[in-house]
Amino acid sequence: MILLGVNVDHVATIRQARGVSYPDPVQAAEFAIKGGADQITIHLREDRRHIQDEDVFRMKAAISVPLNLEMAASDEIIKIAASVLPKTATLVPEKREELTTEGGLDVALDLKKFAKVVARLKDAGIEVSMFIDPEKKQIDASLEICADAVEFHTGKYCDAKNPAGAAAELEKLRDAVKYASGFGLKLCAGHGINYDNARICVETLSNVVEYNIGHAIVARACMTGMESAVREMKEILQGGQVLTRDRFENPGLGTRDPENRKIRDSGLGTRDPENRKIRDS
Ligand code: PXP
Repeated sequence: MILLGVNVDHVATIRQARGVSYPDPVQAAEFAIKGGADQITIHLREDRRHIQDEDVFRMKAAISVPLNLEMAASDEIIKIAASVLPKTATLVPEKREELTTEGGLDVALDLKKFAKVVARLKDAGIEVSMFIDPEKKQIDASLEICADAVEFHTGKYCDAKNPAGAAAELEKLRDAVKYASGFGLKLCAGHGINYDNARICVETLSNVVEYNIGHAIVARACMTGMESAVREMKEILQGGQVLTRDRFENPGLGTRDPENRKIRDSGLGTRDPENRKIRDS
């Protein structure tokens, strides 16, 4: 069976856009698991643009499937990983100015550094996956530093501007998967995969056992959830009773627990940073 890792970073992106406490990526992960997610993937970026440190700890404690932590090979994040102990750490390149992870790691260029990082994470009991472009030298380098897995960057294929470009990128991926098979590496793939190209990837990239997909799933959830979200708001405006609110927003500030109600009614809402500090203390 092909495994699906659901990346919920962009649930946190929506939350951070407002600086409030919802939507909560941990709750989103729980819904994803109900939908069949085999793993939850989150990226704790050095600039903390979406997932926050606290999310990583809460996620690990809450979910019933393995956690895959995408991370830069930086000392600060390695320390956090060693404390959270996700099942897998996927090492990714990170540039502050990029919109998303724009290319694979150059493992071959920095073999010594990556060997040390992989050893540190593995010593902590974490499996290590290298997010690489589909190139032989990156596969060889990943093997040399004893990585457990590689995740092939599918972005160039998924974002290709024309069918010829897409075919050429898919061919590179197919060749890389073929080359990497048989060494005992777990083979994964991800980035840019959507509802149109997912099946093509699966059919072409035999031996890839895991796909990590985020943006397309979060975007689809926004669309498929819109109708009921509006219906619920309409019901509230019309004076109807909606029972689902505290399932989706501010789980700690729901209406069922009288203590929580007191906090909510005291004005300690989520917008004012001062209030947030009090609420979170
Ligand atoms: N895999 C890795 C290593 C990533 O960095 C990302 C993006 O965070 C993904 C998978 C998911 O990519 P997308 O959001 O385009 O599905």
